[in-house]
Amino acid sequence: MSSVPIITIDGPSGTGKGTVCSFLANWLGWHFLDSGAIYRVLALAAMKRNVTNDDIQKLSQLAVDLDVEFQVQGAGQLSHVVFDDEDVTDDIRTEDCGNAASIVAAIPEVRQALLARQKAFHQPPGLVADGRDMGTVVFPDAELKLFLTASAEERAKRRLKQLKDKGISANLRDLSDDIAERDARDSKRSVSPLKPAEDAIVIDTSDLGIENVVGNIRELVIKMIPGVS
Ligand code: C5P
Repeated sequence: MSSVPIITIDGPSGTGKGTVCSFLANWLGWHFLDSGAIYRVLALAAMKRNVTNDDIQKLSQLAVDLDVEFQVQGAGQLSHVVFDDEDVTDDIRTEDCGNAASIVAAIPEVRQALLARQKAFHQPPGLVADGRDMGTVVFPDAELKLFLTASAEERAKRRLKQLKDKGISANLRDLSDDIAERDARDSKRSVSPLKPAEDAIVIDTSDLGIENVVGNIRELVIKMIPGVS
């Protein structure tokens, strides 16, 4: 076990992971790794530079050289993502960028190239890491590993609401299809597939409001991380 504690939160999108991670990082005053944002920036960079998904050497080099800055506001709150001096905070959150991220994320060489960058977030006083393989591959020695799930239908509804709140129109059917496709790709890939670590605590959030999810996890953290009260 490392002396700098790590909490990993893995699971598919729409399970409340992002909200839980922001809460935890803020509450504990720890660093926050949004690993999905790194894959999203890489996908955006590849599109901007016309690097195709079959050019694995160029893609891996792009992953190593990626000039990305995660600006934080307060303790662990991600406020802006800057790539090549350009604010790409909103650009990386589109459905298209999420799908493109999931395609580049299935390439083993790309995952390997991004490993050191993710591990570098492990700094005192602690780290909350959000992703798909945080507990299985990137931080296998984490003190607390959580895996959030929710039914595909519930996740599509949550995503629809998020988009509507931002004034973006979308329909449930298309979102459900996108989610199913992305889940299948993330779960079936040969490297670091989306799955709970053997020692992860799995929490189904389908029928829980986000306040309950956050509250339950807060209790777990108090119970399992020494020194947190
Ligand atoms: O979490 P987010 O939706 O931002 O992630 C976008 C995509 O990046 C995911 O669908 C997944 O394919 C990929 N990803 C990954 N491993 C991670 C984080 C994200 O493969 N640790």
